Parts: sequence; structure tokens; C-alpha cells
Amino acid sequence: MDKIHAVYNSRFNYLNEIKISPLSRAYTFSDSVYEVIPFCNSNLIAFESHIDRLEKSCDALNLSLDTKKTSSEIIDLISRSKLIDGYVYYQVSRGIDPIRSHIFDESLTAETFGYVVDHTFKSQKLKVMICEDLRWQRCDIKSTSLLGNVLSMNEARNHGCDEVIMHKSNLITEGGASNIFFANNDTVFTPSLSNNILPGITRELLINEIKNLGIKVVEGNFELKELETAHSIWLTSSTKGLAQVTDVINLETKVVEDHNLFKKCEQIFFKKFLSGS
Ligand code: PDD
Repeated sequence: MDKIHAVYNSRFNYLNEIKISPLSRAYTFSDSVYEVIPFCNSNLIAFESHIDRLEKSCDALNLSLDTKKTSSEIIDLISRSKLIDGYVYYQVSRGIDPIRSHIFDESLTAETFGYVVDHTFKSQKLKVMICEDLRWQRCDIKSTSLLGNVLSMNEARNHGCDEVIMHKSNLITEGGASNIFFANNDTVFTPSLSNNILPGITRELLINEIKNLGIKVVEGNFELKELETAHSIWLTSSTKGLAQVTDVINLETKVVEDHNLFKKCEQIFFKKFLSGS
């Protein structure tokens, strides 16, 4: 396997050569935030939005971020890797404790880490499981504290699924690593932004693009039962693009694979953001 290009505290290196302290608060407390930033045909997709969201996540943790430096590191990382399609994982942690302590020392120096992954976008069909949303109450922060997502997604994998659709008291929130959309004949629905979901960049790109082309989009609070009558369901993320849900193992649905409105949204998205034109 080719060496993976990475950067740790602004020093470029290969991933397998980076040494990290076990007292990094990313390691002991998940006191860290991250971004997954895709690029396709050498073009970064919605780069500014990702940097903005990273800055917001850092603000929520009271961490300062030099966005200019971060942006240039990410660009440099991609160019060193010579990859054409892929994504950058970039993480900012509060830093390294001298001794593990819940209450952090305000003077810690933030610790940054990024690496670049070879990844090609392709259309996917997903089998999913509905599960209760076990997570904390600030899912709008892109934090590395993802144990709720990890437990649910691995439980789903044990049932032969690729992803989950989560709900809190019957209200749909999002996927384990994605936002959810569903559609009937002429309208696309997606849960409104709140502290219970991540403000997905792909979600935002898709909503803006399809609205501009005259497709009706409704953001709101939706119960699980609304999925039972949906003609199509799909999940969005920076690594999946739009991935169609063709099978939900623990809910009766009427989804059809060749639903026109889904196909239209998928085409619009791939053409606008992934064709490189
Ligand atoms: N995750 N919701 C959750 C919980 C996510 O983890 C993600 C993406 C999304 C979609 O956000 P975006 O469109 O900005 O990628 C929604 C990334 C891909 C990950 O953790 O790997």
C-alpha cells in the first residue's frame, strides 16, 4: 500500500510515522472536533463551509483555530498525496494534559492532525436498521465523541446493514454518519436543523441546489411512520454523496429503487458537485 500522507501539529509526515501522546485529550476524553472534507477531480467540495463548520465546532469547545493555516495545510496535504479523488480527515484536540484531568488547563496548546484518504464517489444502495438515538444533546457539534453512533452502526452491521436511521422518541434525527432525506411524488423532506443533528454540508448543498431547480423541499419534525409511506429514502454525507436506502430491516416501507424524484436529485448532485465540471 502507498504511504498515507498526514500532518501532525503542522508537520507533514507519513501516517505510520506520527507518534501521539496517550495523554492527548482526543484520546482520553474525545475532547476534540473534526471535519471530513471531500475532493473530486482535484476540486475541494464546499471547502469554505467545512472550514466554517470546523471553526464553529472549535468555538463550541472554546478552542481557537487558525483557519488560514488549517486551510493551507489541507491544500498542501492533498497536493503532496497527488490523489485526484478522496477526502481529508482533519481533527483539532484541546491538547496534551500533563496528567489526565477532566478540568482542562486553559493554557494547553491545541493539537491538530490530518490525513488524506483515497476515495472514489460512486452511487450506493444501502440496507439500514432503525434504532433509538443514544447520543448526547449537542449532536450539532462535529465532535469525535461518537460512541452512540459507533455502537448503533456496529449493531446494525451485525444484522447485515450498512447504516442506521436514528430516532429520538419516534422523531427521526439522522443516520449514524449521514443526514436523512425522504420523498413522496413531488416533495423532498428532511429533519430541520437542531441540536439533535449535525448540520451536514452535503445536506445543505443538496437542499440549495434542488430548491433552485424548483423541487419542493420541506424541513420539519418527522415521525418514523412517515418513512413507511415514503417512495424513496436516502442518506447524505461527504463520503457517500447521496446513497439510496433500498432496504429497511425493521420498518415496513414502500420504497422503490427507481423513484423519479430520487433519481433527479442524485443526478443533479453528481452533475453539480462530483463531475468536476
Ligand atoms: N460524517 N451526520 C453525522 C452524524 C455524520 O457523521 C455526518 C458525516 C453527517 C453528514 O455531514 P456532511 O455532509 O457534512 O459530511 C451527518 C463524516 C463523513 C464522518 O464522520 O466520516
